[in-house]
Amino acid sequence: MSNTDTVNKTAIGFSTQSDEEILELSNSFGATHYGRYDFIVRKSESCWLYDHDGNKYLDCLAAYSAANQGHHHPGIVQAVVDGLQKHYGSVVSNMVHTDAYALFAEKLAALIPQLAPRFGQNGNKVLVKNGGVESVETALKFIRYYGYKSKGIEDGKQEIIVFHNNFHGRMIAVVSFSTTPKYKEGFGPLTPGFVSVEYGNLDAVKNAINENTCGILVEPMQGEGGMYQPPEGFLKGLRQLADDNDLMLIFDEIQVGLGRTGKMFCFEHENVIPDGLVLGKALSGGLLPVSAFVANTKLMDLVFRPGSDGSTFGGYPLGAIAGIAALDVIVKEGLSARSAEYGKILRAKIDEIAEKSSHVKEVRGRGLFIGLEVVGGDAMKYCRKLLELGVLANDSHGHTIRISPPLVITKDEIDYLVERLEKVLLD
Ligand SMILES: Cc1ncc(COP(=O)(O)O)c(C=O)c1O
Repeated sequence: MSNTDTVNKTAIGFSTQSDEEILELSNSFGATHYGRYDFIVRKSESCWLYDHDGNKYLDCLAAYSAANQGHHHPGIVQAVVDGLQKHYGSVVSNMVHTDAYALFAEKLAALIPQLAPRFGQNGNKVLVKNGGVESVETALKFIRYYGYKSKGIEDGKQEIIVFHNNFHGRMIAVVSFSTTPKYKEGFGPLTPGFVSVEYGNLDAVKNAINENTCGILVEPMQGEGGMYQPPEGFLKGLRQLADDNDLMLIFDEIQVGLGRTGKMFCFEHENVIPDGLVLGKALSGGLLPVSAFVANTKLMDLVFRPGSDGSTFGGYPLGAIAGIAALDVIVKEGLSARSAEYGKILRAKIDEIAEKSSHVKEVRGRGLFIGLEVVGGDAMKYCRKLLELGVLANDSHGHTIRISPPLVITKDEIDYLVERLEKVLLD
């Protein structure tokens, strides 16, 4: 890596093995399920990643929104360190309650507006898991059970409407309804019970509804699918269709929630309240895998009873402690408003570049979640150049450069990024 922005020249991080040795180990013993850069990160702090020699790189990916609060946020680190050093962090059997879990559940349930208000102002309940896809699958169980129990659909016949170019994770049920062939090819038999329609097309949704339809699973803005915002009125239209047909409307905000798009929740842009919400990634500030499915208490109690779901680590104390601290940081540091304000600043500069650049086809996004679709469709070509200049970014759906930095990014860091985007896009 060549980058002149060097902070120190001593080896840093977990090990002293050379980059060559680490690459050899990683490629020899780790599955090759990601196409990774030959870039080895030894340390991360706030918006910056450091290599072996202390060269720094601006993280404009933030682990796909997991590091919204910035890497190793001191408040979250302290909470986790306390949990470990004071002996209240370790996983314990889910046969008992813990104060950490109870307080996390209360905080998260209260942070979200009343979900499914047509079922009453009962408050929200949370079901905590680990990786995001686990909570998506929890949501699928929730939708199906609602259809079975409340609508009387024969068990096994339930159908859920999803959208082309969706991304909800990598496990079998979820890849079964992906429209990206490489996510599912050869992994059959796939899970039935899903109907995929065009994102943004309300007529297509309407036509897909039948007597077995029990719900709709949608990203209020697509992240991996190319960073698309749905047409105005789409979420409202979904809400109406769900109400008219007694369907569960579930939003997956794993990537676009928790401040990323300039609001705490992306659905607040259209003021459309879902029946259930899936969160992950930034829910623990990037230190531990924590995700959650949240729903109106009445519905959660209808669907989940002892034995109908579970997870050894779901809601365990260390994750819960990280979750409490991570939510506190987003609220106390006003990260949603910061994403809106700094997103506007960055967007104006990116729009200026796009106007002059022959490489940019379209700029999309909200808050600090900005996509630059490139002419020719190979966004990684530009991302690789950005890395040489000290910026980590990647593509969304091949054709779009995803700019999604930690929400604590400063104005100087925005200038650093813009300078490098200019170099790459204005040649
Ligand atoms: C919208 C959305 N849902 C689900 C997931 C899956 O989350 P995880 O990788 O933590 O399982 C992702 C991950 O990028 C996502 O963006």
